[in-house]
Amino acid sequence: EHHVIAMDGPAASGKSSVAGAIADRFGWVFVNTGNMYRAATLAALRAEVDVNDKAAVIAAVDEAEVGVAVVGGRSVVTLKGEAVEDELKDQSINLAVSHVAAVPEVREKLVAMQRDLLQEHSLVMEGRDIGTVVFPETPWKFYIDASEEVRASRRGLQGQADAVSERDRLDSTRKVAPLKAAADAVVIDSTELSLEQVVEEVLAILGA
Ligand code: CDP
Repeated sequence: EHHVIAMDGPAASGKSSVAGAIADRFGWVFVNTGNMYRAATLAALRAEVDVNDKAAVIAAVDEAEVGVAVVGGRSVVTLKGEAVEDELKDQSINLAVSHVAAVPEVREKLVAMQRDLLQEHSLVMEGRDIGTVVFPETPWKFYIDASEEVRASRRGLQGQADAVSERDRLDSTRKVAPLKAAADAVVIDSTELSLEQVVEEVLAILGA
């Protein structure tokens, strides 16, 4: 039987780094669901569709055959079998992804793929709706937060201009699966904590 730790939170809160570290510690698979929404967005941009045209977005995403594989304990997202991870942090995707992620049909498709991964692996899965929608029954849920200033500066340190606050606004106000902590999630404010300190706190809560 496989297990899943859900790790949600706003943009650049550090949840990917924390989730990766916890996955390594347990030998579980780290799944970055943001990259799945980013790959769907890449598909829409490659097809040159207007990301606010839902029907066109759905058609482009279907046509692109978004897939997810597990390589070296990590999720790797593909389009028609082609690994696209290197292209997913482009600013064009930062600007468009929240629109694509608000389309219910896109979410249904990706959520089904996320759930399927549990058939074969124990997972540490990060995203926006893992504790609320994808795996609401898991007993292990974390919501990693940080102040907007710190998140913008963490993203800047990664060498990226990113519309962090605009994405948060869109992600938390959309109708389907809005960004929010599950009622039973442990909320960790990482504003004044290092990555190591957040990882230690998560491990302590898990009793590991
Ligand atoms: O930049 P950061 O790592 O914080 O974001 P991400 O995890 O790569 O997610 C990119 C975008 O995908 C988010 O802004 C959401 O619009 C969307 N997303 C989502 O809707 N649901 C998820 N489970 C994960 C990401």
